[in-house]
Amino acid sequence: MEKVKVAVAGVGNSIAYLLKTLSLKNEPKGIWHQKVGGIELKDIEIVAAFDIDERKIGKPLNEAAITEPNVVDLSDVTAGEGVTVQRGILLDEISYFAKDKLRIEKTETPKNIGKVLADSGAEILLLTISSGLQKTSEAYAEQALNAGVSLVNATPSTIASNPAIAKKFEERRLVVVGDDLMSQFGGTALHRGILNFMKLRGISAVKSYQVDVGGGLESLNTMDEDLKELKKNIKTNAIVSEVGDSYEVVTGTTDYVEFMKNKRVSHFWFEAEGLLGKKYTIDLLLTTEDAPNATNVLLDVIRAVKYSMKRGEYGAISEICNFGFKKTPSQKSIELAVREFEKKYCF
Ligand SMILES: NC(=O)c1ccc[n+]([C@@H]2O[C@H](COP(=O)([O-])OP(=O)(O)OC[C@H]3O[C@@H](n4cnc5c(N)ncnc54)[C@H](O)[C@@H]3O)[C@@H](O)[C@H]2O)c1
Repeated sequence: MEKVKVAVAGVGNSIAYLLKTLSLKNEPKGIWHQKVGGIELKDIEIVAAFDIDERKIGKPLNEAAITEPNVVDLSDVTAGEGVTVQRGILLDEISYFAKDKLRIEKTETPKNIGKVLADSGAEILLLTISSGLQKTSEAYAEQALNAGVSLVNATPSTIASNPAIAKKFEERRLVVVGDDLMSQFGGTALHRGILNFMKLRGISAVKSYQVDVGGGLESLNTMDEDLKELKKNIKTNAIVSEVGDSYEVVTGTTDYVEFMKNKRVSHFWFEAEGLLGKKYTIDLLLTTEDAPNATNVLLDVIRAVKYSMKRGEYGAISEICNFGFKKTPSQKSIELAVREFEKKYCF
């Protein structure tokens, strides 16, 4: 099987776990899908990387991935050791809260991102930069288009769900998928899963809430009110898609607790009604780690994009968007999204 060549923009915590997983000689424990589009993990090769933090630029990718301000506790990361992290694009203001954690010295954008991408042989650019950088994300998308590279947008910036951008990728015979990664077993997935199960068992969900506390750079970033609102809307829409527009739900990151590092604690409360309006309530606490919760989804999405390109399918492919992301061009129930993805790609 030929290689899948991937470039990454944003060498944060989720990329560190992705690299750690790709560094393991034997099949890692807990891999969700061994083969996607017939492609195995060993076929994935990282060929270029971009970041804006001075502590990461110029370093081999495998070292940069475990450099501050990343908070993951990892060793023996070897994948990406031959790749030097290059200076990336930055066209937006970094949020007031995250600014102090990042070391940004130069703000001018290098002009050669498209060339670096093309020269590296990358087929897919994985966008894992901090959230809240809409203009920057669009600029990466433009560079991917120029270089003839497909795009996976893990960030909440509107890229794949912007029909004009999706059309440009389709016309270039490229794939674009996103937006805002849905963690494998995170708050949004569990919230949707419980609503789906209520429906399956014939009771009606009435209302629910989910409050999250986390400790990574992204949780700190989300203390910005505009960003909090953006992420809240994305999560709300994804959850509402399980049960219908009139559903009452409150969700989103509530606070940053530094010592939690990459951990996230989500508290859920649900109310539902059954026969003769009898009430059911659920109180639930979920503890997860953000970065490893992203890895399986990223690995699956990358391989599905490559397989679709080979099949001659382009643009914002709905089976990939609905499986891997929260804000998608068309929403599907979480169960159907997994079934459709597996039917098409998991062999
Ligand atoms: N489970 C998950 O990890 C998860 C789930 C959903 C969405 N996401 C999204 O994925 C993205 C990455 O998440 P993370 O936890 O790895 O983030 P992180 O905060 O750990 O890392 C972000 C990295 O991007 C770099 N960066 C910031 N701006 C950049 C730019 N303009 N160009 C290049 N690099 C830049 C930062 O220096 C940092 O290294 C975020 O947008 C997040 O919202 C992650």
